[in-house]
Amino acid sequence: MADVSLPLIDPAGSSTTVPGDLLRLITCGSVDDGKSTLIGRLLFDTDSLTEDQRQRLARDSARLGAPEGELDYSLLLDGLEAEREQRITIDVAYRFLTTPRRKFIIADCPGHEQYTRNMVTGASMANAAVVLCDARYGVLTQTRRHAFIAALMGIRHVVLAVNKMDLVDFDADCFHAIASEFRSHAEQIELPHVTAIPLSARFGDNVFHRSARTPFYTGPTLLECLESVPSAPASVSSPFRLPVQWVARVGGNFRGYAGTIASGAVRPGMKVVNVHSGAVSEVRRLVEMDREREEAVAGEAVMIELSSEIDVARGDVLADAEAPPELADQFSAHVVWLHEQPMYAGRAYLFKFGAATVPGTITEIRYQIDVNTLAHVATRALHQNEVAQVHIALSRRIPFEPYAVNRFLGSCIIIDRLTNATVGAGMIEFALRRSANLHWQNLIVDKTARSALKGQRPAVIWFTGLSGSGKSTIANLVEQKLHAEGRHTYTLDGDNIRHGLSRDLGFTEADRVENIRRVAEAAKLFVDAGLIVLVSFISPYRADRDAARALVGADEFIEVFVDTPPEECERRDPKGLYRKARAGLLKNFTGVDAPYEPPEAPELTLQTLRTPAEELAEQVVSFLRSRGYLG
Ligand code: ADX
Repeated sequence: MADVSLPLIDPAGSSTTVPGDLLRLITCGSVDDGKSTLIGRLLFDTDSLTEDQRQRLARDSARLGAPEGELDYSLLLDGLEAEREQRITIDVAYRFLTTPRRKFIIADCPGHEQYTRNMVTGASMANAAVVLCDARYGVLTQTRRHAFIAALMGIRHVVLAVNKMDLVDFDADCFHAIASEFRSHAEQIELPHVTAIPLSARFGDNVFHRSARTPFYTGPTLLECLESVPSAPASVSSPFRLPVQWVARVGGNFRGYAGTIASGAVRPGMKVVNVHSGAVSEVRRLVEMDREREEAVAGEAVMIELSSEIDVARGDVLADAEAPPELADQFSAHVVWLHEQPMYAGRAYLFKFGAATVPGTITEIRYQIDVNTLAHVATRALHQNEVAQVHIALSRRIPFEPYAVNRFLGSCIIIDRLTNATVGAGMIEFALRRSANLHWQNLIVDKTARSALKGQRPAVIWFTGLSGSGKSTIANLVEQKLHAEGRHTYTLDGDNIRHGLSRDLGFTEADRVENIRRVAEAAKLFVDAGLIVLVSFISPYRADRDAARALVGADEFIEVFVDTPPEECERRDPKGLYRKARAGLLKNFTGVDAPYEPPEAPELTLQTLRTPAEELAEQVVSFLRSRGYLG
């Protein structure tokens, strides 16, 4: 999934002309709301089907038990056989629809709660959303969630399709009540354009044909409405930005920078800047396949040749040199969490902006937004499908614009560093200025000078393992040996640090993430002081240990897995904690009701069952010696 980026690449392919009459649309709602039927009905009534598809529809309808002579339009959406048999939609599917007035690309987003990811992906490129609800049940949490995510993803036009009006006898009051409840939600989430339409997808009322059964309704049919929604305000008048997707070398000297223009227009002769480096050049030619172009605009794919060689890499942004976007590394942003594994503040992730992937962390969850009540809720963890306002800190500055100004420069997907899974989507609100106001003070006496005086190479020896595995015992012995040799050392021990630096933290996953982050930062400082640092923490999560490694630097980080089987740790139980945990007196105890993720590629594994601690400590010292840490 890591290859995905937001906004989603246009499934229609990158067209070279901007079709003014093209509307990108998402449909949200569940199977039960009648979404498949509605889309099927739209395709059928607008004559978007081939004769073959029509015949198959009639056949399938009869076979799968539709009432005599009736078509089950939901059967049209049968891109996947599984969908037909199980009657659920399991992925984003794109439907293409053409009427005399315009073309539509419909991203069909499943309604099951766990599929928010698909909706986020679909919505990132859409201009309008059709949110379905069942007239019998009205506005549900899911309806609110869909509207909220649509608004969050920058969609300004939402159609509330109040479906199954036939099942409420086309009751005017029922429709008006639902419409007005939805409108007040829309107002709160600042969704400016809402049209509510009473319809029956099954019988076709107010979809393509105006219904005689809704005399109380004078607004447009669904199709009329969709035909009149203003199409994408392609931001042609905004300053030029091209996120570079690839660099092509054609022949010996021609280097082309290709991508889809995020905003503005570009012409030969225009001065452009590589925002990241500040290097300026001029556009010599715009190339499209074999032909040259005089101009290319937002939404178009283009290849640019510059008149002088400047360094431009995949992931850089070329921009109008007169009006470049800002660079920043800290942001306030909205995040939609997409993965079953919750997100914790302080944990390290990868942030993919277009083709640029940057390491970083979500430093703080400011608040979670309850999609139902829109209340701001304090939290330490963000779960699947939840939305929060957060602070993001990246390891380097990137060119950006707020999402509201530019979807391409303002959005990212968040990727798990270990599994490469897409775990979240982020939409930038604004840059936090603090990074610009905080400077790094370069000290004259530095790490090299400090370690030279001590005659050693500083490093972190990171002991990880279950409680009772023997980490502290071994770390202690190692430190004694090093000390006896005249080495300068320091030990950061779990129990001790929790009496001071981490006194405010407990043992939830969120607290452990923060505990390990602090310890890693502290270890880094001691390494900077020229010391050999022994760190002894359970540190049960791989992601956090990897983040510590990345922070300290891989060549100064030695991960030591103290590998003692859980049964043995529990048998030893030096602090009586396993007993307490088994008795239910201690929650979140590692190995009992909290996980431990063993390292995948530690520098050293120590098996304490077979070998005495003294000998294992000697192994660690030998390792340090063999790798040149002890000079
Ligand atoms: S870590 O997960 O954040 O790395 P840490 O190493 O600081 O844990 O834990 C320090 C010590 O706290 C453990 O060795 C153990 O003695 C004690 N402790 C108390 N409660 C727990 C718990 N729920 N889970 C694990 N250890 C606990």
